[in-house]
Amino acid sequence: MKTVGVVGCGLMGSGIAQVSAQAGFTTWVREVDKPALDKGLGRIRKFLEDGVAKGKLTADVKDETLGRIKGTTELQDLATCDLVIEAVLENLDAKRQVFSTLDRIVPASTVLASNTSSLSITEIAATASRPERVLGLHFFNPVPLMKLVEVIRALPTSDAAFEQARGFVEKLGKTAVVAQDTPGFVVNRLLVPYLLDAARIYESGVASKEDIDNGMKLGCGYPMGPLTLLDFVGLDTTLSIANIMFEEFKLPQYAAPPLLKRMVLAGYLGRKSGRGFYDYSKS
Ligand code: CAA
Repeated sequence: MKTVGVVGCGLMGSGIAQVSAQAGFTTWVREVDKPALDKGLGRIRKFLEDGVAKGKLTADVKDETLGRIKGTTELQDLATCDLVIEAVLENLDAKRQVFSTLDRIVPASTVLASNTSSLSITEIAATASRPERVLGLHFFNPVPLMKLVEVIRALPTSDAAFEQARGFVEKLGKTAVVAQDTPGFVVNRLLVPYLLDAARIYESGVASKEDIDNGMKLGCGYPMGPLTLLDFVGLDTTLSIANIMFEEFKLPQYAAPPLLKRMVLAGYLGRKSGRGFYDYSKS
């Protein structure tokens, strides 16, 4: 495996493209238009420059990494890739459209992966003429710092595709956790009920948001408290994952609390909108 493609250069796609290029792969990254592509590539450059300033990597490594990244607005440019990772909107139709196009333009040997956090890999794979080469590679935000990737086998995924994807994760220097294709895989299956419960106890007035966050940070050593993490992940993203999990399992722990729904309706989406449980408008 020498050449990797990433579809989508948003928060997750840019992080995936960065770690792929840092690991030595020629990496094509595709966005829908030039402004979105420039924004994503700018995010990668800034992260690498900050890394140099923090003494985490040399300026040479930064330049080599940037030199391996090839930005494009054409999916066709990913035709020579050995592995393509899709990281577009968390929307089944959008993902299926990307997979059916990729299926036509890449060689039969190319492995196709989705970075979905909650949609069914099997359902995404169903659009491909060779569903045996489709699987999930679920990265965590911020991708360059988080050491885990979940590797998801869909029902039709072949052993060969699965081993290639797992080998890629190892080359990134990350740890693979293997999971079956069920909503939330391993991490979100545990994380989402925890985040929903944090919103529930805040909503019911058990404690202030700061005390809920400090409780888990200082009492359990978590890097962020749950309400800060909800703001970081995005309230809309968490709500969408929770809804998919509730739809599948019909268990109360996946039912979103009314406060979360109301905040999303009000546009309080977390850091990205400048307001969630906390106010980010001045940061
Ligand atoms: N380049 C290289 N290294 C960098 C860097 C950069 N640009 N920026 C930061 N770092 C390094 C720092 O130097 C530091 O390294 P050391 O530990 O060796 O000192 C480390 O990264 C942490 O950085 P900071 O000290 O700046 O920041 P922090 O300590 O506040 O940590 C964080 C930030 C890593 C985000 C931490 O708060 C954290 O782990 N939060 C939880 C994030 C999380 O849970 N993510 C998963 C969300 S769920 C998801 O993504 C999946 C889904 O489907 C919803």
